[in-house]
Amino acid sequence: LQAEAETAILETNDITALRDLKVKYLGKKGELTSILRGMGGLPAEERPQMGKVANEVRGVIESLLIDRETALEEAELEERLQLEKLDVTLPGISQEIGTAHPLNSMIEKIEDIFIGMGFGVAEGPEVETDQYNFEALNLPKEHPARDMQDSFYINPEMLLRTHTSSVQIRTLEAKKGEAPVRIICPGKVYRRDDDDATHSHQFTQIEGLVVDQNVSMSELNGVLFAFAQKMFGAGIEMRLRPSFFPFTEPSVEVDIYHPEKGWIEILGAGMVHPDVLARVGYDPEVYTGFAFGVGVERIAILKYDIDDIRQLYTNDLRFLDQFKSV
Ligand code: PHE
Repeated sequence: LQAEAETAILETNDITALRDLKVKYLGKKGELTSILRGMGGLPAEERPQMGKVANEVRGVIESLLIDRETALEEAELEERLQLEKLDVTLPGISQEIGTAHPLNSMIEKIEDIFIGMGFGVAEGPEVETDQYNFEALNLPKEHPARDMQDSFYINPEMLLRTHTSSVQIRTLEAKKGEAPVRIICPGKVYRRDDDDATHSHQFTQIEGLVVDQNVSMSELNGVLFAFAQKMFGAGIEMRLRPSFFPFTEPSVEVDIYHPEKGWIEILGAGMVHPDVLARVGYDPEVYTGFAFGVGVERIAILKYDIDDIRQLYTNDLRFLDQFKSV
């Protein structure tokens, strides 16, 4: 039995099989145990002798098992160490870490400022119907103001939106006459402009819309000035110039003073035209509102001293890398 166990143990190459052998030879139902049990049937004088032998065999098998177990564990460890060997002197694979695009971080900055003033963030489609982009905003077909926003038409009824003001209509329709309405909507807009240092056929606007009872022009002024101060610092100078948009009355354009560039227009705004309100179910005798459309690139150009709007679109890493900490 001892010889048999010895061969079996030395031939085993894995720990689980070795545990099975331990049970087979030494376990409660093991072979050695049954021999010891059978000793009761032996003549009294043979028992001590037999017991001695059996115990010796047991001891030998036990130590064989322990030695083999240790050997197998060491081999396993050695194999693992080989497999997981790591050469720390090899040069690493460097990973370039990207960052938010300056335009996106600017959108987030602007959103944060208006969210801080109680605005929610709305969304609208970039492919828009003529109805939402123009008609509902007092720009009927043949209206000369449509020329201000020379458009990319997809078919006679659909175009790439020329401004985010279409979202004013979508938002008011969805609100079904309820007040207050206080949203901003960031998004891409498209116009048929020739690209140069200050123009791009696609740019970004953030629309703002407030509708409630007793909303006034001075509140518009206050909200926009608070925005300008948070963006450019408390000392910033801002001015309102009278302007014209078919969907606001009165209308203004808002400029910021830049020490080198002078007065720079950053947004258009005004009091929502009563006809616009009435068409989407807000009684203009009860409700008033204001709206504004911020040019995000304009703000970024001023804030980061960018000299060419095209740098925001051409994805030159030498330009983008400068905004890693912004
Ligand atoms: N939609 C106008 C533009 O694109 C800006 C604007 C928005 C004006 C809201 C007034 C009110 O030029």
